[in-house]
Amino acid sequence: MVSPFDVLGLDDDADEADVERAYRERVKEAHPDQGGTVEEFQLVRRAYRELGERDRNGDADDETDPADIDLTDEAGEVDAVQPVRVEFLDYEAIDDYGWSLDDDDLFRKASHADLDPAAHGRLLVHPDESLLEAAERSGFGWPFSCRGGACANCAVFLVEGELSQPADHIMPEELAERGFRLSCNGYPVSDELKVVFNVKQLAELDDLILPPGPFTRR
Ligand code: FES
Repeated sequence: MVSPFDVLGLDDDADEADVERAYRERVKEAHPDQGGTVEEFQLVRRAYRELGERDRNGDADDETDPADIDLTDEAGEVDAVQPVRVEFLDYEAIDDYGWSLDDDDLFRKASHADLDPAAHGRLLVHPDESLLEAAERSGFGWPFSCRGGACANCAVFLVEGELSQPADHIMPEELAERGFRLSCNGYPVSDELKVVFNVKQLAELDDLILPPGPFTRR
């Protein structure tokens, strides 16, 4: 048996703050770009999600101890992580329609604007894919340049959900706090995501953009 507490390296009496702290540490260590593996990364993600769901559903008083949640199947293998659903929107549409990244109903507006499927739609991110890889597998040409965390050409803006960031990335803390992430090495850490892609044209990302190279898209 493997419990969420085992995965996060916590004692059975850990509280919510301990879980949060341990998760932030573990998800960095397990990130595939930091020497971890996709499987390890997804397991950490799943452990955190199980504990979070329990709190959200108000199950905290449930008789099942979180330490008794088993992340393995009957064969003793860790259950597979399901793909993550992502709703995306092209920043160009926001610009064209005069909307703002801070609009509360941004995606509702997009749903009613009859946008091109490449500008607004949905895709699935499989457990072994970064967000950019999933977009490309789905046939979309999202911008990128270095594919290694050293520029902001692949940047996206998180409207809902969470996307991981490797420890050494170029995104300044203040922009990361506002919700900017890199799609080339960002892996979903929530069950659903809403992101605006193609935000590299924003003035605040100007200094982080690489000039076009031979393999650069847009
Ligand atoms: S393409 Fe350069 S950081 Fe993603």
